Amino acid sequence: MSDLLDIDDLSAEDLAEILKRCAPGAAGRPLAGQGAALVFEKPSARTRNSMEMAVVQLGGHPVTIRPDEIGIDTRESAEDVARTLACYHAVIGARVFDHEVLSRMATAVDVPVVNMLSDRSHPLQAIADVLTIRGEFGTRDDVTVAYVGDANNVARSLVVACLLNGLAIRVASPEDFAFTSEDQARFAAFGSGFSCGSDPRAAVNEVQVVYTDVWTSMGQEQEARARREAFRGFGVDQTLFSTAASDAIFLHCLPAHRGEEVAADVVDGPASRVWQQAENRMHAARGALSWMVDQ
Ligand code: CP
Ligand code: NVA
Repeated sequence: MSDLLDIDDLSAEDLAEILKRCAPGAAGRPLAGQGAALVFEKPSARTRNSMEMAVVQLGGHPVTIRPDEIGIDTRESAEDVARTLACYHAVIGARVFDHEVLSRMATAVDVPVVNMLSDRSHPLQAIADVLTIRGEFGTRDDVTVAYVGDANNVARSLVVACLLNGLAIRVASPEDFAFTSEDQARFAAFGSGFSCGSDPRAAVNEVQVVYTDVWTSMGQEQEARARREAFRGFGVDQTLFSTAASDAIFLHCLPAHRGEEVAADVVDGPASRVWQQAENRMHAARGALSWMVDQ
């Protein structure tokens, strides 16, 4: 059994195996008669529903737990919450503000723990993203992704997943919201296909995939006004998108803020694949959970 706290925990072969298990009927029913505890410190539409349905498809029973029901590190420690859930469940998923809380939960128990989004990373999203890109472009070896916006949890996992899967990725962010040199050094360990800068046009030029995420992530709401200011010029509108390759697609992990990081005619336009991407969250969750419990 294996935790999945970060996409960085996977080898290229692991990711390939997970992607294989995302196909219909490929994951089996390894959770038959067992439970999966899904703990959320933040709101969720896609992650909660895709994980619950993936657990059901794997033969298991999901129990979603809201923050006020368990009080991580207020009612009892994160470790004791995890130890309690491990008494009843074969898998624990957690969406947390602080990645460290997730690591403490994983260290406290033997059952596999999966990251359902932390401040650092969003591995289940990244698996669905690669699944969507490969669903569109097959095994083509010349696919480049441009991520325009905040160098956040989603972007950090996307970069590593792309590199593990042989996709090149360019990131354009305002200087104050770019990847740290530590992040960049870690990416270099996964291959040479990563580059970054602060010019969205340079990033998007002739790419096959244009991706963005919100400028203000959950937990950063008090910075929203300053961030809107800092990210001016980093919105993906039709003018920017039209400089991508003629067969380019648009991706967004959602929720989207039309008129901020993406224009309505891009996210709702013919090149958008955001609903396929959202559906793929369920297939990705099924593949990942099946892989985790089999390790
Ligand atoms: N993309 C994503 O994780 O969506 P939710 O926050 O709705 O789960
Ligand atoms: N970066 C966003 C992703 C939401 C799925 C956040 O952390 O809120």
